[in-house]
Amino acid sequence: MMNHSLLLSLCSVILFLININYVLSYRPVVIIHGVMADSDSMELISERIQQSHPGTEIYNTPRYAGWTSLEPMWRQVEEIGEDVMAIGNAFPEGIHLLGYSQGGLLARAILQRYPQHNVRTFISLSSPQAGQYGTRFLHLFFPDLVCETAYELFYSKLGQHTSVGNYWNDPYHQKLYFEYSKFLPYINNEKISTNTSEFKDGLIKLEQMVLIGGPDDGVITPWQSSQFGYFVNDSVVEMRDRAIYKTDAIGLKTLDKTKKLTTYTVPGIPHKEWHVNITILEKYILPHLN
Ligand SMILES: *[C@@H]1O[C@H](CO)[C@@H](O)[C@H](O)[C@H]1NC(C)=O
Ligand SMILES: *[C@@H]1O[C@H](CO)[C@@H](O)[C@H](O)[C@H]1NC(C)=O
Ligand SMILES: *[C@@H]1O[C@H](CO)[C@@H](O)[C@H](O)[C@H]1NC(C)=O
Repeated sequence: MMNHSLLLSLCSVILFLININYVLSYRPVVIIHGVMADSDSMELISERIQQSHPGTEIYNTPRYAGWTSLEPMWRQVEEIGEDVMAIGNAFPEGIHLLGYSQGGLLARAILQRYPQHNVRTFISLSSPQAGQYGTRFLHLFFPDLVCETAYELFYSKLGQHTSVGNYWNDPYHQKLYFEYSKFLPYINNEKISTNTSEFKDGLIKLEQMVLIGGPDDGVITPWQSSQFGYFVNDSVVEMRDRAIYKTDAIGLKTLDKTKKLTTYTVPGIPHKEWHVNITILEKYILPHLN
């Protein structure tokens, strides 16, 4: 018969193992900050994830901070994408990817550009997934820019050297958008390329895509772009009524039909608060990170 102290130490070994197992059960999270910001802006959310899910490895990318966040989208996708792939290789059981604002669009394009990734859950936190047609956040660096004429700047060779130009989607100048934009029409498979099928493969393999946004955002315009809705002339068409969904161009419909697409519409949150509001984190983000 086992003596008492041996039994006790056996119990503590078992508890220790359970604990390790429990800690390791949280997958690493890669975080990508927004435009004109840096990894510091995502520190609060990183810390809170680690507090709630002890043991979670967080990779809060320092790349393309501040002004360099305005560099072309493809360049950022390639560089941050290499990091995401390296992290994924170190954690074969899979990782999660969370991007805020422009970072959520970069994150989505990384999944498409690197379809061999092992990202399980992708969380897009108020990101212009269907494009942007609002200049509020641009006034910091282009004080006189107005929506109506911004296309003259962005739909040019020079304008395409900026991240914002790459996802500027002017509903009244769609012809120029298709002609000049080097990024958004490709990753949305609106424009067919040799990469069209892999762009879809990279998204349909996700276990969960979570799209968070809301009507009081004030920066993402239309706010429905955070959930793949967009303007047709002056009105907004929701994701499920748009061609990108109906033709399953990038797999949104497939994800939706298999319950792998979750959208959250949260009123009362201005753009600058999504990533610092603890309620948003606890209610809409943490439940998807395991
Ligand atoms: C397709 O992807 C390759 C790299 O995988 C890249 O070199 C090429 O430019 C891409 N083409 C388009 C049209 O996106
Ligand atoms: C949008 O406006 C243009 C120009 O007025 C018009 O030709 C087009 O039919 C409109 N599209 C829709 C879907 O209303
Ligand atoms: C965070 O968001 C919730 C809505 O989900 C709101 O009720 C709350 O006031 C916000 N908190 C802060 C500090 O802004």
